[in-house]
Parts: sequence; C-alpha cells; structure tokens
Amino acid sequence: MHIVITGAAGFIGKKLAARLARDCKIDGQTITKLTLFDIVEPEAPLSNGPDILTVAGDITDAGIAARLVGDDCGGVFHLAAIVSAGAEEDFDLGMAVNLEANRSLLEACRALPNVPKYVFASSVAGFGGNMPAILDDETERTPQTSYGTQKVIGELLVTDYSRKGFLQGCSLRLPTVVVRPGKPNKAASTWASSIIREPLQGDEVICPVRTSQAMFLSSPEIIVENMIKAWEMPAESWGMVPSITLPGLTLTVEEMLAALERVAGKEPVNKVKFVPDAHIQKICDGWPTTFETPRAESLGFSKDNDYDQIIRQFMENDMVKNS
Ligand SMILES: NC(=O)c1ccc[n+]([C@@H]2O[C@H](COP(=O)([O-])OP(=O)(O)OC[C@H]3O[C@@H](n4cnc5c(N)ncnc54)[C@H](O)[C@@H]3O)[C@@H](O)[C@H]2O)c1
Repeated sequence: MHIVITGAAGFIGKKLAARLARDCKIDGQTITKLTLFDIVEPEAPLSNGPDILTVAGDITDAGIAARLVGDDCGGVFHLAAIVSAGAEEDFDLGMAVNLEANRSLLEACRALPNVPKYVFASSVAGFGGNMPAILDDETERTPQTSYGTQKVIGELLVTDYSRKGFLQGCSLRLPTVVVRPGKPNKAASTWASSIIREPLQGDEVICPVRTSQAMFLSSPEIIVENMIKAWEMPAESWGMVPSITLPGLTLTVEEMLAALERVAGKEPVNKVKFVPDAHIQKICDGWPTTFETPRAESLGFSKDNDYDQIIRQFMENDMVKNS
C-alpha cells in the first residue's frame, strides 16, 4: 500500500514517517511506498521496507494534491498546516493551507478508484470563547481564531466526505504536543516546550506566564500511536461523527517544573526565569485546559502515563546533547 504524509518535515510528521518506515505495516497491510511531502524536502527516515519518496512542494499549488495521491494510494495522513499564530498573522495563507488545500486533498482522494483512508490532524483550538471549566465530548466548538475555525471546517469536510463514502476519514483534535525539539516557534504556546527543552540543553529560558497556568498536553509518541490507531479503526466504530478530542494530561507550569526537577534535578529548573508577558498570558487565559475524553478512551485511544515520561522521551529521542 502507498501512503502519503503531508507536513512530513514537521515535528509530528517526521515521527510518523519514521514509525511507518520502521513498522512497514499498518492495519495488517504491507506499506510498499511512503510519499513524504512538505514545503521543505523531508528527510527520508530509515526504512525496513517501504520505498521512500520525498517531495518538496507547496500544498496550495493547483494540481499538486492529485499528483501526490496516485491511483495506488491507500490513504493520506494530512498534517501540513500553518500553525495558530501564523494563520492569525496571515489570514489568506491560513485559509489557503489550512482550509483550501485540505479540500483539494479530499477531492483528490475522492477521485481514487479505491476508498482511501484519511487522517486529519485537527486541534483543540477549535474550542474557545465561553467554555465550561471542564470540556467534554459534548462541548460545542466556538473557535476564536482563524486557525481554530479552519480546523473545525476541515473536520466537517472530512466527516461529510466520509458520510458520502468518498473516503474513510477521521479527524483527531490534538492537545498541545510537547516537547518540540529545535528552536522556539511563533506559537503562543511555545513556552510549554521551551521551559523544558532549553534548560535541559543548558540554556536559560524565560517563562512568560504564571506558574498556575495550565496546559492540555500530549507527547508526540502518543500522537503517532493514536494516528495509527485512527487509521486502523473500522468505519463503524466511529458512528456518525469521525472526529474526536484525543486524551491528554493537564498540568500547570508548577507541575511541569516539578516533573523536570524529578527527572533532571534542580539545576535545569533554576534556568527558568519568570518574566510575565501580558499579551501571551491573555492568549493563554483564553485556552481550554481541562478535558474529559471518555469517547476517545472507550475507543482505545491512548494517553501518556505522566509528564516525567514525556520529559524522558524528549531527552532520549530529541534532545540536543551539548558536549
Ligand atoms: N504540535 C502541536 O502542538 C499541535 C497541536 C494541535 C494540532 N496540531 C496539528 O498537527 C499537525 C502537525 O503539527 P506539527 O506540530 O508537526 O506542525 P509543524 O509546523 O511542525 O509541521 C507542519 C508542516 O506543514 C508544512 N507546511 C506548511 N505550509 C505548507 C505548504 N504550503 N505546503 C506544504 N507543506 C506545508 C510545514 O513546512 C511543516 O513542516 C498540524 O496540522 C497542526 O495544526 C499540532
């Protein structure tokens, strides 16, 4: 089977590609080819079998979707996106990448001779405005950002294309995924990774929010696990709505730093300096932080055991080790 991953040079796409290239199988079928697509050419992971085709291109280009998903395509993991702050800054780019390209990919899948799988990376950013203290599977989505709106519309499209039988799709609303390797990005949530990553790599870091600030989190390893699970789920298991909020952990900054101390000692924690930033604090105040996800759990989606393990995984898999 041929699988396409968009956003394959990104944080999660790279890990998903590595996992599929290593496993060689999904849902009992052999993966013969992986097409890894991104605006920057993705690195080819070590493969235990599948042919790896890396493609650099702009997902908003006319005709690209149809060229990516050839007739042999068994399905798509659609991860390419302009993330929250980027889509807020550039409305047209956000709409083109996060909404219109999703529709083009869905159309390309619809044209295939077989019914392909389609796993769409959505976000809890679809929730916003007046929210209950604890959000659950019944909470209405009233996004307060363009990014959140684009993800909610994307979910509706995936649901409708699935209902029509054009494809077998689903949308997973991801918590904030930590610990992102590399440099801080433009996201208002970037501190959640920075306050762990930078101190572990020996650098001082500024935390712009209060210690009681909570965040709904997952590790990239669990997200990859859940994406594969979603692909493998029979269509009937979803019922009428193949969209779900994935389970996650809710932790305050204080709890995150306590975990950092348990895993790596006091020294890295001392590198975190608190310099409040009213703008970032206001954005974070508007985010949903506490979720109950009984539907995802009853369907067998996983969550991390604890934050200590998330930090250990980062140290083992992604940390830049300064000599
Ligand atoms: N990481 C998180 O905390 C988080 C949380 C919720 C949802 N998500 C969603 O999960 C998915 C993956 O997230 P991530 O953290 O890996 O993001 P990322 O930014 O690391 O990866 C996204 C990739 O999309 C690519 N891309 C952007 N514009 C493109 C274009 N025009 N053409 C082709 N490729 C383009 C980027 O180059 C990037 O490599 C995204 O859809 C994101 O919205 C992520």
